[in-house]
Amino acid sequence: MVRLTMGSIRWAFNFGKWKPLREEWLLAAQSVQLEENQRIHKFVFRKDAKAALVGRLLLRKVIAEKLDIPWQKVKLVRTEKGKPILEDTEDHRISFNIAHQGDYTVLASEMGPSTVGIDVMKAERPNGIKGLKDFFRLMRRQYTDHEWVTILKNPDEQEQLCAFYRLWCLKESYIKAVGIGIGFELKRMEFHIYSPEVPIGQVILDTRSLQTEDMTEFTMPNFTHLGFSHLVDTAESLLESEDSNWENFTNKPENPSDWKRSTAGSLDI
Ligand SMILES: CC(C)(COP(=O)(O)OP(=O)(O)OC[C@H]1O[C@@H](n2cnc3c(N)ncnc32)[C@H](O)[C@@H]1OP(=O)(O)O)[C@@H](O)C(=O)NCCC(=O)NCCS
Repeated sequence: MVRLTMGSIRWAFNFGKWKPLREEWLLAAQSVQLEENQRIHKFVFRKDAKAALVGRLLLRKVIAEKLDIPWQKVKLVRTEKGKPILEDTEDHRISFNIAHQGDYTVLASEMGPSTVGIDVMKAERPNGIKGLKDFFRLMRRQYTDHEWVTILKNPDEQEQLCAFYRLWCLKESYIKAVGIGIGFELKRMEFHIYSPEVPIGQVILDTRSLQTEDMTEFTMPNFTHLGFSHLVDTAESLLESEDSNWENFTNKPENPSDWKRSTAGSLDI
């Protein structure tokens, strides 16, 4: 079976590099639904506010463009598990999902009734974990024996970490496609990787899982990197432009390490 996925969209935005200008932030913040604007207001760190706001813009952009409807007509709600879906739950013309971590917010979308999930992870050791062995021990039960063999056969630690996160993203994407959340035992899924490396700019199509064994061939687009102007090129205002959005954003520390630094500074006084 060859599945041509003409309606597939994969977008990535590097929010780590994005240092919003006032006008950019205000435009972005007024182009999302009120409850999302308010949620973003509450984030402690700038990086999280940027990641989430970009996610909302990606969702609205793909829906408005692919369904050919005005930006203001896009109405999103969340399932009780938090998954963003169209308010009209009978509308199965498009499926979408976003993820954010590290420096990137990413979106996957498919036309038609199939459902899509996505995840992204920066391949680095989590904060507070001394050795990779300790980290793997903590995560022991999330992976099957077959998956641990796949991870540990790599000769060096960074490669092991990459394999670990690659499998993690596959499991999370599955969970997110289905729309269930934490609580689902990750070990219940087993993925088989046949291409040991994921070269930058290349799409890997030979990954299999016990659930998808019958799917033989796909065509899939690579990720397109969007810049800010592309992200908002069809955006329309849903809310009044509020200066408080900018003040709120600039008052946040970028990330936890900046916050620790300024806390340490205030202790010196
Ligand atoms: C879904 C989940 C596994 C993703 O976690 P994560 O790795 O931290 O986050 P990711 O970067 O991969 O994805 C985050 C995005 O996925 C989407 N998302 C949230 N919940 C989702 C779900 N249940 N299924 C699919 N997508 C979901 C959202 O768009 C979210 O971004 P946003 O909140 O800024 O809009 C996790 O949030 C979870 O388990 N949620 C369920 C919580 C739950 O069961 N709540 C019940 C009420 S207490």
